[in-house]
Amino acid sequence: MAKVSQLAKVIAGTFVVLTISVIAGTITMAVFYNQQISTMNVTSPPTSPSTTEGPPPIMRLPKNLVPERYKIFIQPHFYTRIIELVNVTSPNQTLLFTGNSTVYFHCVQKTGSIFLHSKDLVVSNPVVIDQDTDEKMGVIKMTNHEDESNFLEIRLKEPLQAGTNYSLFLAFAGQVSEYLEALYLSSYVEGIPAYEGDPNADRFLVSTDLQPTDARKVFPCFDEPEMKAVFDVTIIHRRETMALGNAKEAGSDVIDDEWQFTRFHPTPRMSTYLFAFTVSEFKSRPASFHRQVEIKTFARPEAIRAGYTQYAEIITRKILSFYETYFGIEYVQQKLDQIALPDLYPAAMENWGLVTYQEASLLYEDGVSSLLHKEEIATVIAHELAHQWFGNLVTMKWWNDIWLNEGFASYMSYIAVDDAEELFKVKDMYVVNDLHAAFREDALASSHPLSPQPDDVQTTSQITEMFDTITYCKGATVVRMLVDFVGENVFKKAIKRYLMDFKYKNTVQNILWDYVQQAVFEDGGFTNIAKVMDTWTNQIGYPVITINTTNGEIYQKHFLYNDTTESSLWWYVPIRVMSSTAAPTLVTLETSSPVKKEVFISKKGEWILANVNFTGYYRVNYNPENWERLLTQLEINPHRIPVMNRAQLIDDAFNLARAKLVDVTLALNTTHFIRNEIEYLPWESAVRNLEYFVLMFDRSEVYGPMQAYFRNQVQYLYEFFKNDTDNSKVPKDHSLQHSQITAIEVACSNGVPQCVEMATKMFGFWMNNHTNIIHPNLRSVIYCQAIAAGGKEEWEFAWKTFQNSTDTSEKEQLRRAMSCTKKIWLLNRYLEYTLNPEKIRLMDVASTISYVARNVAGQALAWNFVRAHWDYVSAGDGAVLIEEVTSRFSTKFELQELERFAQDYNLGPASRAAYQAVEQTQVNIEWVRENKEIILDWFEKEI
Ligand SMILES: *[C@@H]1O[C@H](CO)[C@@H](O)[C@H](O)[C@H]1NC(C)=O
Ligand SMILES: *[C@@H]1O[C@H](CO)[C@@H](O)[C@H](O)[C@H]1NC(C)=O
Ligand SMILES: *[C@@H]1O[C@H](CO)[C@@H](O)[C@H](O)[C@H]1NC(C)=O
Ligand SMILES: *[C@@H]1O[C@H](CO)[C@@H](O)[C@H](O)[C@H]1NC(C)=O
Ligand SMILES: *[C@@H]1O[C@H](CO)[C@@H](O)[C@H](O)[C@H]1NC(C)=O
Ligand SMILES: [Zn+2]
Repeated sequence: MAKVSQLAKVIAGTFVVLTISVIAGTITMAVFYNQQISTMNVTSPPTSPSTTEGPPPIMRLPKNLVPERYKIFIQPHFYTRIIELVNVTSPNQTLLFTGNSTVYFHCVQKTGSIFLHSKDLVVSNPVVIDQDTDEKMGVIKMTNHEDESNFLEIRLKEPLQAGTNYSLFLAFAGQVSEYLEALYLSSYVEGIPAYEGDPNADRFLVSTDLQPTDARKVFPCFDEPEMKAVFDVTIIHRRETMALGNAKEAGSDVIDDEWQFTRFHPTPRMSTYLFAFTVSEFKSRPASFHRQVEIKTFARPEAIRAGYTQYAEIITRKILSFYETYFGIEYVQQKLDQIALPDLYPAAMENWGLVTYQEASLLYEDGVSSLLHKEEIATVIAHELAHQWFGNLVTMKWWNDIWLNEGFASYMSYIAVDDAEELFKVKDMYVVNDLHAAFREDALASSHPLSPQPDDVQTTSQITEMFDTITYCKGATVVRMLVDFVGENVFKKAIKRYLMDFKYKNTVQNILWDYVQQAVFEDGGFTNIAKVMDTWTNQIGYPVITINTTNGEIYQKHFLYNDTTESSLWWYVPIRVMSSTAAPTLVTLETSSPVKKEVFISKKGEWILANVNFTGYYRVNYNPENWERLLTQLEINPHRIPVMNRAQLIDDAFNLARAKLVDVTLALNTTHFIRNEIEYLPWESAVRNLEYFVLMFDRSEVYGPMQAYFRNQVQYLYEFFKNDTDNSKVPKDHSLQHSQITAIEVACSNGVPQCVEMATKMFGFWMNNHTNIIHPNLRSVIYCQAIAAGGKEEWEFAWKTFQNSTDTSEKEQLRRAMSCTKKIWLLNRYLEYTLNPEKIRLMDVASTISYVARNVAGQALAWNFVRAHWDYVSAGDGAVLIEEVTSRFSTKFELQELERFAQDYNLGPASRAAYQAVEQTQVNIEWVRENKEIILDWFEKEI
């Protein structure tokens, strides 16, 4: 899946498109769903005595039974529309779904019980048949274990025999979720409602989202990634609706006046978490073909009519062909459906043959969507399509190796988008984003290895926690480092064979290393790949390399923000190094002790630069003389230093300062040169690093001088784009488009008068003339700045426009912008709105609160709010929420509050985030104490 929080920050605000709707409050509608499964005519299974005491449950299925095929019927009973007419009684909506499944399996070890997974289902009528003799086996009892294992145990009169094939039939019933999990209900408004809240315009659909462990809530199954099987699926749905599944439709027919069925071809052998279906009134444009593969994009009929799926269709074909060539294996299914859902959390999910997306990740509207939004759509599609190979075709054995899915998909998405859309330059930009995100998390002692031991990842909470920044971003950058180290051709050769040999099977990390090793040998290399890579994947963190250019001595040390933490970890570090007079070369540091190397000696006072193009997952520190030379070079002619390294020098210096390895003034000095910089990456790096200073000091006297410094630094950049900006125009180059947004953001938020005036004027023109002349790229930043500078009138206009808008892109931009107001009472009101799904969709709750928390005026409000409404607001992504609302914490009092929160609340999968936040707060407290005076001095001297 693609994480929401992973999307580039710039883009997150400049979102999408189109004519949609508000959520028609599925939660408030719950009162109508009165057909309870408890009243159904099924016998509940006997339950075992509650097991709250005794040893912890065993979470893994015994491996004595191997599923081969499922034959599944599912019937969701909901209505897609409920039209109320005066003269007709309309039906009540229902969340019931019913069905049955037969799983065919092979017994490899004699057993008296069948164990599989089932959660929140009413399961009945077990029938076990010996497939070899066709005899029915007696069932003694069926038990749904009441612990975290979610086991459904079926005890048999006679044991199942090794070497024999059996089938297990089960009927089941369940309730469609209203919380975007498992099989869930989503809604949207079609057409123009006759009046506000007109229920006749509401449309409903159901969709699945099963990763990692929700398949068991839809049908009883062997719900572990290694238990791959073929799925034979029939969906029974209402006649006016359309059903999609993983595989191509094999047939459909009418059952009666109300119902029809759609049967699908058998799926390829796949893991349960990739199972998917949807039932809706959605439409698609005519299919396009890639070889024999039928490609369709589905969305709300209005979005299809308006052509919002066109960009996705074009880019999908390009990316699919790219992967087929790169991996040397054709996409194996006969069709590829992609569907834009009004509600989905995460951003997208790679279900084999039926990829689901949030609308914002798939739909693009020319002239309304930010041009930069295409980057995100292309990247998310490329990520999900990479999974059709990495993840779907070849799957990790267990969730501890999920980085094999997510790290590879993230890495491959940049390569693929770079091929399909060269102008986007996503390779540079997203790589830097990923690196920085991973670097931050992984410098804490509470980080986790990319590939932990399987035993450390057992419960659903532990599995869910694995879908984090480390897995995605560190995963992608470690793959990138490997590719740089062994060469792209060797890497390609290795993964082609790896995918071919393990298709429809499961692997572990070490198998991948074996394949890379083989390719390295064939290429004449002799490095021990597992020995090198294991240091990056099996242990936490990363090193800082310290180079003394006087004598060429280098050594490594575990990089941690907390400088008192003891660590003896070390890594095999490939180092690309260049100097002012020498081209880049590659050397490897293979020891924990200091070594001297000729290549690191500065001969005639030239500078040395290590980690050229940022291909390595490590930081670099130098002796003061070399830092000085590098900074001088940046002032005189920055272009001698590759643009990624201009960004890296800033990022390294700031983080080294945080870890007390260099003075904070050195870090600040690295931002001098940006006053003549136009490129996005160095600016982004400077802004993001100073953001930490903003968070630590925007409630103190340091903030004034700091803002004055920002105003000074941004002057050239702002002027560079001023003509364009004032006329609502943007440059052609994508990276310059990003720079332009940064220019406005930095200038306005630090009070450059021309900027605030420009934003206020443009927004005012929109308010007064009801014509929006602001370029789509600039809307997000200008809305925010105008609302920050304005008052009630601007905010009310934004809220009204947000509510009435049928355009997703505009809604996203406004939703973010409303958090920018400085008025406490408006922020309070906005927070309250997040509790009402008719005002703010559940999937947007976490990000809305996070936006408010980012605003200095909203920080304390958001923190109180999150604690008061934790159960509701954490439904989306509680971990991100904790990280965001605590990002300013830097006092003893805040630390105490946070510790109490971590103790008293049931945080579930957000627990680790809470511990990380505690650690981060301790670091912040100390940092502020040590640096405040020095930093205040520095800024005062600068201005
Ligand atoms: C109910 O009323 C609608 C319009 O008010 C009309 O079109 C429809 O024919 C009526 N249906 C019945 C069953 O009388
Ligand atoms: C809908 O639910 C209400 C309240 O439970 C009930 O009175 C009514 O008969 C139901 N309508 C239909 C059509 O089932
Ligand atoms: C399973 O469900 C389908 C659809 O409702 C039904 O036609 C079929 O008879 C059921 N199978 C069994 C064995 O009950
Ligand atoms: C730093 O690490 C040491 C040793 O592990 C620990 O005792 C201390 O509390 C940590 N300090 C902070 C600020 O996290
Ligand atoms: C670098 O090496 C020189 C020569 O051995 C030494 O004098 C100097 O102190 C070292 N610098 C640092 C920062 O360790
Ligand atoms: Zn993914």
